[in-house]
Amino acid sequence: MMLNRTPGRGGEQDLQALDARSAVEAAAWAPSVHDARPWLFTVENDRISLRADPERRLDVSDPEGREMLISCGAALFTLRVAIRRLGYEPHVRLLPDRDRPNLLADVHLGVRLPEAAENRRLYGQIRRRRTHRGGFQASPVPAWVLSALRQEAQREGATLRVIVDPHAKGALAALTMAAEHVHRQIPSYAGEVARWAASQNGNGHQNGNGHAQGRRLPAVDWPDEPSTGVACILTTSADGAGDWLRAGQALQRLLLRATAEDGVSAAFHAQALEVPELREFIRVRFAAGDHPQLMLRLGIGQGPDVQDDQTGDDEADQAGQSDQADRSDQADRRETTLDGALKGSFSADPCRVS
Ligand SMILES: Cc1cc2nc3c(=O)[nH]c(=O)nc-3n(C[C@H](O)[C@H](O)[C@H](O)COP(=O)(O)O)c2cc1C
Repeated sequence: MMLNRTPGRGGEQDLQALDARSAVEAAAWAPSVHDARPWLFTVENDRISLRADPERRLDVSDPEGREMLISCGAALFTLRVAIRRLGYEPHVRLLPDRDRPNLLADVHLGVRLPEAAENRRLYGQIRRRRTHRGGFQASPVPAWVLSALRQEAQREGATLRVIVDPHAKGALAALTMAAEHVHRQIPSYAGEVARWAASQNGNGHQNGNGHAQGRRLPAVDWPDEPSTGVACILTTSADGAGDWLRAGQALQRLLLRATAEDGVSAAFHAQALEVPELREFIRVRFAAGDHPQLMLRLGIGQGPDVQDDQTGDDEADQAGQSDQADRSDQADRRETTLDGALKGSFSADPCRVS
């Protein structure tokens, strides 16, 4: 943010409150299920509370709030990076009050600490990162990048499992399609998707409901886009609220790192994990008993997955000044990408996780 960081009468305290607010603005750029942004931040001096907003939970596809908390975890990681960027060492307490389950984290700015170069790099990607939808370029994601992304997930207490066996990949694609059919049997599911699409259309954040469209990709062949990318499952060893928050933090850490690595981007496929029986099947058969939190495809994107005119944190700071305008612009870009992707004829190909 290009905030005036000159302390007012309150001195250091005012400055910290300003810094806390600017970190919260950065956090709102995190990915979230259906772009629902189900988080609420409150700032009091140097303390930021993160709460889940149950009004923004998807009652039909996410009744437990698992995806809601993954989204909030992604926002929390973004907040941590932004706080480090401002020169503090954030102190985070996850789920600090058992009696208030919607209170997800208390974050203190913490002591002053010089920022590491690695954090600066991640911060520079916050406003550039975009969810990819469609196919990828033919060139594969380099092995060293995949290994770096696995390490990033591990650092947040999650595991990124790369699915190398083509039959396993095909089975996951088929399960994703199956979930799509199961969902379509539930009238209230269509209503829920439509409601979120409508809310996006109404507030300038619309993306032609890219999410809903993106969810259908596994059944689709992409004539001009040869690669479906590397299929991965993000998993955790347990399956409670803390694990979902950890999964979200791991997700955003690896997405920011991927964005920093020359055009690597991620497509998400959450459907199969929204059907309890399929999620259990995937846990046992494809995740070595770990709890699957999200399926992803990683690849080299084509077109504007990232906001290419934003290369560094100074430019990103400027972008933050017109957050709303930029989000609309981003929505337009998404729509363009989607339109491009939807051109041409499709044929069902259940062996592709795309
Ligand atoms: C938990 C979670 C699940 C998601 N599931 C899907 C999905 O199944 N398909 C999809 O296309 N996008 C999915 N997304 C991505 C969101 O649609 C995306 O983050 C949102 O529309 C905002 O767009 P952006 O990430 O480009 O900023 C998911 C995101 C999260 C955090």
